[in-house]
Amino acid sequence: MSATLSLSSTFISRHGLDEGLKSVRCSPRRYNERCVRKVGALVTAKFDLKPPPYPLDALEPNMSKKTLEYHWGKHHRGYVDNLNKQLVGTELDGIALEDVIRATYNKGDLLPPFNNAAQIWNHDFFWESISPDGGGKPSGELLRFLERDFGSFEAFVQQFKSAAATQFGSGWAWLAYKPSRLDAGNAINPRPSEEDKKLIVVKSPNAVNPLVWDYYPLLTIDVWEHAYYLDFQNRRPDYISLFMEKLVSWESVSNRLETAMADIAERERAGERKKEQVEEEA
Ligand SMILES: [Fe+2]
Repeated sequence: MSATLSLSSTFISRHGLDEGLKSVRCSPRRYNERCVRKVGALVTAKFDLKPPPYPLDALEPNMSKKTLEYHWGKHHRGYVDNLNKQLVGTELDGIALEDVIRATYNKGDLLPPFNNAAQIWNHDFFWESISPDGGGKPSGELLRFLERDFGSFEAFVQQFKSAAATQFGSGWAWLAYKPSRLDAGNAINPRPSEEDKKLIVVKSPNAVNPLVWDYYPLLTIDVWEHAYYLDFQNRRPDYISLFMEKLVSWESVSNRLETAMADIAERERAGERKKEQVEEEA
């Protein structure tokens, strides 16, 4: 597989580890954390199966323990196990999950690890999008943004539900923030520029997520059948309605919006500094 990839050195982060060190090294990521383990002279990168931030029965009766046992315990675990096997010995071994996703999206011509890598990220994000105390209505800046960009909270809910219901086959629906700076470099931006600096609703097939377009995901719903079949059988619209009414953690979505806005502001400042530096050197 490595022969099919051309990655810059910024993707490779395993240099500098001491030989023979038995340790776990973690570095902070924008949306997740990943540990690089080194045991003896063998270096291998290992993604862990991250548990949901609540017990498996905590979402009942809205989402059953049995669904969590299969969805998290079998499907999510399978993506982690498969990716760890796929990455060993490749040039992707040792880089952050988000970088694996961006590198292997490959302008939509997916490289082999993409689906497992993106599904790990999507599921971590999904479990943290819901809560035993979820549902209701957001407040504060998030509500103001939703009202500004969709007309009303109710209009946003309708658009999100529609995207989730109409995703053909397996996939995801997202609320995301679309910044004006588009430097993903590895994907064709699917949305027009008049949607810059706005919240948008977008759906994606299979494992694709908005990171590949350089958008900031804020909320997602998994509409693969494995997410709802045990509780709802084929009634996807009922699952989506219950998700919006009882499960969405608006606290998580608000925190993500705050983090996204801070990150975007920092990127803009960095861009300005770079521009000034270029002008000074000219
Ligand atoms: Fe899933």
